[in-house]
Amino acid sequence: MLIRKYQKTDRTAVEMINFETGFFGKSMSEFITDHDLWNNLVSYYLEKEPESAFVVENQGKVVGYLLGTTGKKRFHLINYYLKTFFKTLFALRKLRPKDLLYFGGKYRYLFKTLIGKYGRQTLRTPKRAGHFHIDILPGFRGKNTGTKLLNEFLKYAKSKGVKTIYADSYQTPLNPNTNFWLKNGFIEYDRIRTYAWDDQLRGEEIDFVCYVKRLK
Ligand SMILES: CC(C)(COP(=O)(O)OP(=O)(O)OC[C@H]1O[C@@H](n2cnc3c(N)ncnc32)[C@H](O)[C@@H]1OP(=O)(O)O)[C@@H](O)C(=O)NCCC(=O)NCCS
Repeated sequence: MLIRKYQKTDRTAVEMINFETGFFGKSMSEFITDHDLWNNLVSYYLEKEPESAFVVENQGKVVGYLLGTTGKKRFHLINYYLKTFFKTLFALRKLRPKDLLYFGGKYRYLFKTLIGKYGRQTLRTPKRAGHFHIDILPGFRGKNTGTKLLNEFLKYAKSKGVKTIYADSYQTPLNPNTNFWLKNGFIEYDRIRTYAWDDQLRGEEIDFVCYVKRLK
């Protein structure tokens, strides 16, 4: 396994991994037919801060990524949500029934959140901190690759003067990754019960957790 900085030519592979791991580490293809409707988060990080992205390569193929930010540039995740909102709105007539079902559910969730049905649905995160998203393809998990990828990013973030790093992660038996954060020295900073996946996983108790690590 080779861990290296992201290059522009990795973009398609990173988008593919993001799609193939989007549903608690499993493929989004069960719910969305068009990869392009799911890639806004990747675009956001890769366009804003490609220098803070890393990939894992196995025999010439990218099998995992870490999309990071040092927190030095202003990140407005609301822009990403708005982009997704308008992209799907404008594509509404062209969306297939499966996609419509998925995004319809997400808009319903957004509406119910806005009218306060679920209580707080956004996580508290530490101020002036870097953060990241990490995903590895199923066949390559549990072999310490994620830890090595993370360490590469932490080393880089430290060299940029970052003092605190956080990551938001779902906590559910469906994706048993809690120990990944704990064994890598992260502690829980905030937790909410999320209802974002109710349409797909009715009755499942899913928490959204912000994990934090101070860099020494
Ligand atoms: C979480 C993840 C990035 C960790 O990378 P990794 O290479 O599997 O992890 P490492 O081998 O370095 O560390 C092992 C820990 O990772 C987690 N892990 C290992 N295999 C896993 C799997 N198949 N699914 C989920 N988490 C797994 C466990 O917590 C494990 O600790 P344990 O063996 O003591 O239970 C990777 O498993 C993954 O992409 N999972 C699915 C998507 C995800 O959860 N992303 C992060 C949240 S946004």
